Order: sequence, then structure tokens, then C-alpha cells
Amino acid sequence: MKVMSESMVKKVNIQQWIEIRNSFDVNRSIGFVPTMGALHKGHLSLIKKSQEENQITLVSIFVNPTQFNDKNDLDKYPSNLDKDMLLLEETFSSDIYLLVPSYDVLYKDDYNFRLSENSFSKELCGKNRPGHFDGVLTVVMKLLNIAESKRAYFGEKDYQQLTLIREMVSVFFMKTKIVAVPTVREKDGLALSSRNALLTAKHKILAPQFYTELKLHSDPKDTKLRLENKGFEVDYIEDRNSRRYGAVKMNNVRLIDNINLREVVK
Ligand code: PAF
Repeated sequence: MKVMSESMVKKVNIQQWIEIRNSFDVNRSIGFVPTMGALHKGHLSLIKKSQEENQITLVSIFVNPTQFNDKNDLDKYPSNLDKDMLLLEETFSSDIYLLVPSYDVLYKDDYNFRLSENSFSKELCGKNRPGHFDGVLTVVMKLLNIAESKRAYFGEKDYQQLTLIREMVSVFFMKTKIVAVPTVREKDGLALSSRNALLTAKHKILAPQFYTELKLHSDPKDTKLRLENKGFEVDYIEDRNSRRYGAVKMNNVRLIDNINLREVVK
């Protein structure tokens, strides 16, 4: 464990970040990693990439209530700011600005204004989670405007989210470059997710089969059946633009994943 002197993680609110950002030389590049906390190696890989490509890295932690259509899901979301800060301190040896916004400042309109997309956001994860992507796109637009970063980093695990954010940035002529970072997996193939912490020991053993099955079969209906036979509750398995997307539930814990069909050896 690293011996800590002065904290490398500088926690700021929105106003403080705006002041700090304004004090920087305009040529200094800022990389931004928005998260909802419960940080794991997947988030760390986004932060690492940002540090490699930028002079300053800003990470945000905000459990965004507007993207949870199910209040239970929001209530049980595993958040622990102190633990996250410690992990950042232990992992990184250069400064990280950590933006922790309050709902009241971020949503001063109490979500009266919102952004919506009318096609892809209604499919896959959007089908059974009404309003989910409106919440995601709205908060990401707010955060990108606050961060004013050159680049922003998103994981490929949430590929539908990544696609929608890319489109939003393009259609609204926003300046931030969206950088996609490959999914980080456990050795057994399970994609890292904050929700994995909610799995029971029994479901932890079953969970990697989700990725195994996703890669194995060319017919999504077949994959769905095989997963159901193994004990998963399958929300969807669907192909879009050479990518297979899936969402399953185990004991009310929802896991998502996707694979590039061009990379699957048939
Ligand atoms: O992927 C996430 O953690 C969230 O959807 C995001 C992008 C931080 C918006 O709340």
C-alpha cells in the first residue's frame, strides 16, 4: 500500500470545479470520467486512459436518480464515497479532481428540462426501463458542460449508452471527444460492474455463463433459451449493427453485456 502524504484526490463541488477549471491555462487538456461510484477496475481503466491522454483528470461520482426507473434499484445501488476515495488514493500517484455534485445544484430545475432520444433509446435496455436513457443523456450533457473537458471516457460494457452519448455529442455540436474504453472482465469472463457486488455466492458462480453464452451462439433466440435453462431471467438478447447485446437478471440484480459479432469466431 502506498504511503500517503498530501491527498492526491481533490474533492470539489460544481462551483469549486468551475473556479479551478477557469484558473487553468486554456491549453491544458482535461480528461473527464463520469461515474456513479462503487468504483472497480473498469472505472480505474477509464481513469488510467484519461491520465495517459490528458494533463488533468476529473472524475465525477453522482448516483443519478433520474436514470433509475425503479426506486428499489436506486435504493440498493452500492455507494460508498469514502471507500471510492481510498481506492483512488491507493491506485493513482498523480492528482485527480473528484467532482461530487449535489442534486439541488445539478438539477436546479428539478428535472423540468430533459433530453430525450426517440429511437435507439427505446430499444434494448430502454424497452423495460422507461425514461432510463433520458436520465442518462440529461445528466451526461450537464456533466460534460460543467467539466468542459477535451475528452470524456466511457466503458464499452454500456455500449448502448456509449452509442447514444456519441450521437448526442454529435447532434448538439458539443466539443468533447468521446473515448470508448474496452470492457474489463474477471478471469472467468464476467464483465466488471458495480452491481456484481450485489450477487449472492451462488449467482457469482453462474454469472460468467452470461458472457460465455453470449459469445457462443449465432442465433440470439438460441442464446436466450440456453441462458434461461441455466437459471437466468433473460430481459433480452438482440443483435444490432454487428453487436450482440444482452441483459439478464439474477435475484433482481440486472447485468448487461455485449460483444462485437465480428470478433466472434464461429
Ligand atoms: O455509466 C454510468 O455510470 C452512468 O450511466 C453515467 C454515465 C455516469 C451517467 O450517470
